[in-house]
Amino acid sequence: MNIQDNNKIIKGFSKLSKEGKMEWIVKEYLDNDATAIDFLKSYWHENAKVQKLHDEFIENTITNFYIPLGIAPNFVINDKVYCVPMAIEESSVVAASAKSATFWMERGGFKATVISKIKIGHVHFAWYGKYEKLLDFFERTKSKFYEGTEELTANMRARGGGILDIQLVNKSDLEPNYYQILAKFETCDSMGANFINSCLEEFAKILKSEIQNDNILEGKEKDVQIIMCILSNYTPECIVRSEVSCKIERLVEGTDMSAEKFCEKFEQAIHVAMIEPYRATTHNKGIFNGIDAVVIATGNDFRAVEACGHTYASRDGQYRSLTNVSVKDGVFRFWIDIPMALGTVGGLTKLHPMVNFAHKLLGNPDAEELMKITASVGLAQNFGAIRSLVTTGIQKGHMKMHLLNILNQLGASEDEKLFVADYFKDKVVAHKDVINYYCQMKGVKNVSELKSI
Ligand code: MEV
Repeated sequence: MNIQDNNKIIKGFSKLSKEGKMEWIVKEYLDNDATAIDFLKSYWHENAKVQKLHDEFIENTITNFYIPLGIAPNFVINDKVYCVPMAIEESSVVAASAKSATFWMERGGFKATVISKIKIGHVHFAWYGKYEKLLDFFERTKSKFYEGTEELTANMRARGGGILDIQLVNKSDLEPNYYQILAKFETCDSMGANFINSCLEEFAKILKSEIQNDNILEGKEKDVQIIMCILSNYTPECIVRSEVSCKIERLVEGTDMSAEKFCEKFEQAIHVAMIEPYRATTHNKGIFNGIDAVVIATGNDFRAVEACGHTYASRDGQYRSLTNVSVKDGVFRFWIDIPMALGTVGGLTKLHPMVNFAHKLLGNPDAEELMKITASVGLAQNFGAIRSLVTTGIQKGHMKMHLLNILNQLGASEDEKLFVADYFKDKVVAHKDVINYYCQMKGVKNVSELKSI
């Protein structure tokens, strides 16, 4: 390997103090620009205790990275009203959720149900012998896996959870000598990753010692190679459904659209996302705009939720829409089935002050209730997107919100923002038109002449 600039490499970065880390990156990567340190510090929390808390969430922290927390009010889910906290950097998402929430509030709200809540983990291992003998061994020793983890599972069992099932899975047709211990868990209100992984690692120890001490297995059958022990973020049995429905005429109230035409286009849009992976990806991305924002605000793992949702969307071998629609006997019904492993205790939920706030705002939901809220926001988001796409087009609403971002980038004052927004209220907001209009208003030829840039 021929590395050009050895100064840019460091050993022991994690051992440096926070100041030391900043100084080093500024020296080696930012041309010694001392203002960079002030800039990074300007994002520190003024309360040192709160800052320390944030510093310790991850490793090598130098500052905080802000994303806005917005609120989508008027979510009626199973007849209960929620003000939903959403942490997201993309404009229009919160507005779209809020608009759909109000729309459906006036039409009966969202009906959500948790269909099941089972989490899964595996001990992946290699074993060299006839499967029938392994199966016989597993059946003879299965109870040892429960007994050997009794201490680990005691608290969870006291809360009504624990290990639900342990199975031996033969995968040797896909990979020679590859088998799994597949375990199913109920983790109550916690996401349960640590609990599951601890149980799995204990299973691996039990498997090894039971195989070695078994008095029927012999020779190479007494060898087991543990490949790894890890929960799966794919949780197709931890699934929630949220749906909305109304008479089709109610969909177009206050517009001059025909209900039949709207439904036809809406159904076509969902069908396209069912059969066309290019569209399905964008369609589901829009759903996750809403879901991720709630998952982040409530301190859950959005990477896990996303990965799981995308695998589920491909469960029959093709990537498809996560939402479904039906129009029957004059009734429009729109729903989402989505697996998501969320927790309301443990992890960041009590530690992160904003996450704590988000939970309070939602009335401290349990895991099932949070799954219902989150799925409903995903559905609302998708409804808003499809409605815009098949009627006005997405840019009308989207670029209006984007206008504010462009004007902020240009350094526009509050009065200037109002003035420009008024000018564009009946026009298409194209990036270059906003820049041109703003420059014209400021009496300059181009952006580089703007003092504020
Ligand atoms: C933009 O972030 C999301 C949309 O593209 C979703 C969609 O097309 O359904 C508007």
